[in-house]
Amino acid sequence: MSKPKSNNAKTISVALTLCLVCSVLVSAVAVGLKPSQVENARLDRNKNILVAAGMYDAESDTAKDVAERFKDFEVKIVDLNEGNYLDDNALSDAGIPDRNAYDASQATKNQALSEDLGDNDPAGIGRKPKYAKVYVKSDDAGQPEMVVLPIQGYGLWGTIYGFLTLESDMNTIKGISFYEHKETPGLGARIEEPEWRAKWQGIHSYDDSGEVATGVTKAGNPKENWVDGISGATLTSRGVSNMIQFWLGEQGYKPYLDTLRKDSGQTIDNADTKASQSKQPDNQTAQPTTELAAALPVANGKEA
Ligand SMILES: Cc1cc2nc3c(=O)[nH]c(=O)nc-3n(C[C@H](O)[C@H](O)[C@H](O)COP(=O)(O)O)c2cc1C
Repeated sequence: MSKPKSNNAKTISVALTLCLVCSVLVSAVAVGLKPSQVENARLDRNKNILVAAGMYDAESDTAKDVAERFKDFEVKIVDLNEGNYLDDNALSDAGIPDRNAYDASQATKNQALSEDLGDNDPAGIGRKPKYAKVYVKSDDAGQPEMVVLPIQGYGLWGTIYGFLTLESDMNTIKGISFYEHKETPGLGARIEEPEWRAKWQGIHSYDDSGEVATGVTKAGNPKENWVDGISGATLTSRGVSNMIQFWLGEQGYKPYLDTLRKDSGQTIDNADTKASQSKQPDNQTAQPTTELAAALPVANGKEA
């Protein structure tokens, strides 16, 4: 009678020991891999900054090239409402000891570092960070040659993260990249394709009065300085449009871009129109950004 009992006890203790050994092994591997996962995420982010800046060649560039070229950029923390950089004292007052380690997405989980957008939230992000991390490449005279701005907004299935680069006029789009999203391959995920991203190059962000004047049209509805939406992916296209307009607008980087333009004595000059991909027929007049809501009736998978 006692034999089966002791066998049961043995079986249980062997199973428990196995579970314990396996869980220790899995935890050790997870902990061991964490630094390389963090490093890979950092490399991928830096690569996407270079993609948005038009400084990455997918065919030939190695991780070493990315690290080397990324050195051309200076990391700055911007007060989005004030439109200026935080110096070391302001950073320390804001509780940001290391600008390189600052994560604006994480900051949105911190009440002190973010603001609730309430109903005024076209990009569907819920909270806006008070401070953003931007990447500035300067020319030999120390003037900003381009700025790479992190952007994020809700697509169809989740939040899309990317970077938008503006040229030295703080108006002309130099490039765009997306590095994290949940959109469907072959549909919304086509936002990552070089052909679609290339449509943004040379587009002017603002009209002469400083209003945001770009976005994504519904596929097949060309409009100057607007990008044609992706056919079959209207909802993702609209998410991208909303996020671009939000981040270029008053709640996003506009105060900062105005400051940069003012500091360098520039005004918005759209005379040299480079944007060509969404030429507007001559008989149409420019439409306000709000028209997008009518052109694309659905936002974030919900009725607008
Ligand atoms: C399984 C599945 C996945 C889809 N994924 C996307 C997507 O990632 N992005 C998107 O905009 N539409 C997606 N759609 C299509 C949308 O439901 C919708 O039909 C489309 O955005 C409308 O675009 P259109 O007006 O250009 O046809 C998906 C549809 C299905 C059935």
